[in-house]
Amino acid sequence: MSVSLGDLTPNNIKQLKLLNSVLFPEISLSEKYYQDCLNKTEWSQFGYFSDVNVGATSYCEEEIPEDKDNLRVYIYTLGVLPAYRRLGVGSKLLQYIFDNCKENNKIKQIYLHIPTNNESALNFYKKHGFEIKETIKDYYDKSESNRDAYILIKNL
Ligand SMILES: CC(C)(COP(=O)(O)OP(=O)(O)OC[C@H]1O[C@@H](n2cnc3c(N)ncnc32)[C@H](O)[C@@H]1OP(=O)(O)O)[C@@H](O)C(=O)NCCC(=O)NCCS
Repeated sequence: MSVSLGDLTPNNIKQLKLLNSVLFPEISLSEKYYQDCLNKTEWSQFGYFSDVNVGATSYCEEEIPEDKDNLRVYIYTLGVLPAYRRLGVGSKLLQYIFDNCKENNKIKQIYLHIPTNNESALNFYKKHGFEIKETIKDYYDKSESNRDAYILIKNL
């Protein structure tokens, strides 16, 4: 049994769409979003467990508004199918992002939003050195159960 990674290609973009629709029903991701993923494939990655595609992440790099010489990474999605959790796939995907960040010393920070009731994600990101920066009310306007989000940040 092993955990491995794989690249996004035009041939497997449908898998990214399917994974995201199951893992992130509260987030609307447009066709333009997926086109952007294909234009910058190194910002996405699939996670495999014993050669089965069970998770994915997509992120982007952007200027830090108050420090325009430097960059930060925003994680749009990072998820693993429920049956395959606690096997290290999420950590492998996050490590992929950390490794890419190490290659560019202008990247100073990684951040993301999670629903405030998502305890597993909070534990996962805390374990990897993230902290809660703030709470945003009604961030997930499509969600009926929990609309509030935490912003989690890790400074590099
Ligand atoms: C958060 C998520 C990506 C974690 O993926 P995963 O593959 O299960 O994570 P890992 O197996 O690498 O877990 C690493 C560590 O994180 C912590 N962790 C992960 N899930 C946890 C949970 N449900 N409860 C407590 N701690 C947890 C543990 O410390 C774990 O180490 P351990 O298993 O040795 O105790 C997964 O739960 C998920 O896909 N959730 C739904 C999508 C989501 O909310 N994504 C985050 C927003 S982008």
